[in-house]
Amino acid sequence: MTVIAIDGTFASGKGTLAKKLAAHYNLSHLDTGKLYRATARIALDNNYDLSDPAQCAKAARQVSPEQLDDPVLKSGPVGAAASKVSIHPAVRQELLDFQRDFAARGGVLDGRDIGTVICPNADVKLYIDASPEERAERRHKELRGYGEDITLEQVLAQLTERDERDKNRAEAPLKIAQDAHLIDTTNLSIERAFDAAVKVIDAVLAAKTTKT
Ligand code: DC
Repeated sequence: MTVIAIDGTFASGKGTLAKKLAAHYNLSHLDTGKLYRATARIALDNNYDLSDPAQCAKAARQVSPEQLDDPVLKSGPVGAAASKVSIHPAVRQELLDFQRDFAARGGVLDGRDIGTVICPNADVKLYIDASPEERAERRHKELRGYGEDITLEQVLAQLTERDERDKNRAEAPLKIAQDAHLIDTTNLSIERAFDAAVKVIDAVLAAKTTKT
């Protein structure tokens, strides 16, 4: 049972990479950000207070797997709200079992705390990052594709705010796990980032096989 943990900053390319790696290694894939986005969406739809842990935990309890592929979860406002609800330990607790059950069957999981909290014993851990400017450009292009009217400067400001919140929250902050391999995608196409990730994963898995 192989578990590949992929963490990283917003718009670093970790989601695309996780999907490609899952296909390559014939593993299932869970984008854990969708759980927080679905929680945020439920909270927004019900006019819950995003700063109230009990109301946000109530939203997290209502998340079901069928909701995770709704395109509305990809929108900027839902993403920003996801970052806000994710600071509450009660929300993280509600979403823990789903992620651990998924990981118990093996797969690729991507998020912010996979290598540090959800799957500390993952076979391979990757941390994906890129410069804020490059990430803002990628995200700006994506949002314009969805028809959102937003400037590059606004995207960069929102991304900086999101990085700050994700990295500085008390519970399960985004950080590089001690045994994670860093891939900086600033100057890499998705294909080159994929090649770099496969190289790391194959080497780590081969070293494990030799040991056992
Ligand atoms: O990866 P994303 O942009 O879909 O994630 C949205 C927010 O959800 C992110 O800003 C922080 C939160 N999140 C988290 O706290 N832990 C995870 N494992 C995944 C996402």
